[in-house]
Amino acid sequence: TILVLDFGSQYSHLITRRLRELNVYSEMLPCTQKLSELSWKPKGIILSGGPYSVYWDDAPHVDPEAFEMGVPILGICYGLQEIAWHHGKNVLAGDKREYGHATLNIHAHEGKSSHIDQLFQTLEKDMEVWMSHGDKLSHLPPSFVTIATTPNAPFAGIAHENKPYYGIQFHPEVTHTRGGTKLLKNFAVGVCKAKQDWSMEKFVDKEIARIRAMVGEKGQVIGAVSGGVDSTVAAKLMNEAIGDRFHAVLVDNGVLRLEESQTVKETLTKHLGINLTVVDASERFLGLLKGVSDPEKKRKIIGNTFIEVFQETAKKIAEDAHGSSRQGEIEWLLQGTLYPDVIESISFKGPSATIKTHHNVGGLLEGMHLKLIEPLRELFKDEVRALGTNLGIPEDLVWRHPFPGPGLAIRILGEVTKEQLRIAREADKIFIEEIRAAGLYNQISQAFAAVLPVKAVGVMGDKRVHAQVVALRAVETTDFMTADWFPFDGHFLKRVSRRIVNEVDGVCRVLYDVTSKPPGTIEME
Ligand code: XMP
Repeated sequence: TILVLDFGSQYSHLITRRLRELNVYSEMLPCTQKLSELSWKPKGIILSGGPYSVYWDDAPHVDPEAFEMGVPILGICYGLQEIAWHHGKNVLAGDKREYGHATLNIHAHEGKSSHIDQLFQTLEKDMEVWMSHGDKLSHLPPSFVTIATTPNAPFAGIAHENKPYYGIQFHPEVTHTRGGTKLLKNFAVGVCKAKQDWSMEKFVDKEIARIRAMVGEKGQVIGAVSGGVDSTVAAKLMNEAIGDRFHAVLVDNGVLRLEESQTVKETLTKHLGINLTVVDASERFLGLLKGVSDPEKKRKIIGNTFIEVFQETAKKIAEDAHGSSRQGEIEWLLQGTLYPDVIESISFKGPSATIKTHHNVGGLLEGMHLKLIEPLRELFKDEVRALGTNLGIPEDLVWRHPFPGPGLAIRILGEVTKEQLRIAREADKIFIEEIRAAGLYNQISQAFAAVLPVKAVGVMGDKRVHAQVVALRAVETTDFMTADWFPFDGHFLKRVSRRIVNEVDGVCRVLYDVTSKPPGTIEME
């Protein structure tokens, strides 16, 4: 295992990520981790970048034990400053330096200690690297040599003469640094001799064993499922670990897509063997949404009602479970939290600071005395997909676009009525069907049909009609923070528009949304 100590850089998680791509197992912990408290010995330590200056009074520092453990250390950006600081506090100048691309000049040290050149082995001589701001070394710490420079950074890379300690000012973990993954491999595999044996199969075995140990022989777990990738994968993993002692709950909130709750039920129970309770609370939700057109109010109503319904259902399931021969209380709540959600909470202020909860289950923990179980918290989205495939979840579901908790309520602009719901469902079905038929589904990150709160005039079968307007939205994005609209060709849009107007009663016009995010958002409300 390679230990990544996080000093709070926005790129820290990418280090873990790249190592996993190399099949090297790594764990990221806050930089203040006491190393004597670890139950395992790392093969190597990577100190991440961070937004501080090492000479600030309140700057975080690595446990000095790191330099006593006899393991290789690689410092990146702030991590380099940390290594320099540890070896002589007067080697730093406090001026901010370059940001962005730079060309790295690698210095070979043939004949000296063999480890020195190992970091840059087989890398191009003029490597393009990505720098991010930080302080400069004013001169080398004692016993260190320069292994790389850039036109602006005379100490862009340094190495200890006798020990496997390296510092680099650029970020090898970002894709802008060409050869960055190779450099990390040189460190992890070459210098640290870490094994490249991490795999999804191993993750599954380890995680199942961990869940069983946590939950015990009788413990029971409850969790909400939505039909989305994360909750389904988490549910399947629980099912593999503890079978029917995991209770999945699907709340039909009345604003799901066409035939969604039946489809989810079919997949989860028939194909995946998950113990699922479906609660049809659609009338309750729709009743509360009546007359409400403000988007945030709609979200609140759906979020709060979801919590109420889930808690009522959990209580019933718990009573049934208690009455049955299975015994055991429900003590655990499953959440499909992913790694990007936990990153913020493992900054050096400590892991307990904040644990981000899913939009829709945020309030559950307060009202129920449950402990949290998050089996996906080490994984990135594409790893969750790989895990899903590994667990036998159908590919269609594994690659499904995200669907928001407030569902069609935020895709029907203005008040949600049954008529608008019918239109949204039917139009969305046609749009997605055509996207799949054109082989575009996996190129698009999210797509849907929305219903605008206006009517427009049209002429259908020689008659003048006054009917609803449907807006289509399809975007490409990697992080859902920024997005661009998908450039369908005209023939595709023509086909979808013709089908929607012909097949969906009460629609006379179809628009395509050509707004990027920002300034638009992905959803229309
Ligand atoms: P926006 O519209 O903010 O959407 O650009 C970004 C991503 O978040 C989803 N989204 C939500 N998901 N509850 C959710 O569970 C919500 O209230 C919500 N609002 C937006 C949206 O579908 C997109 O994937």
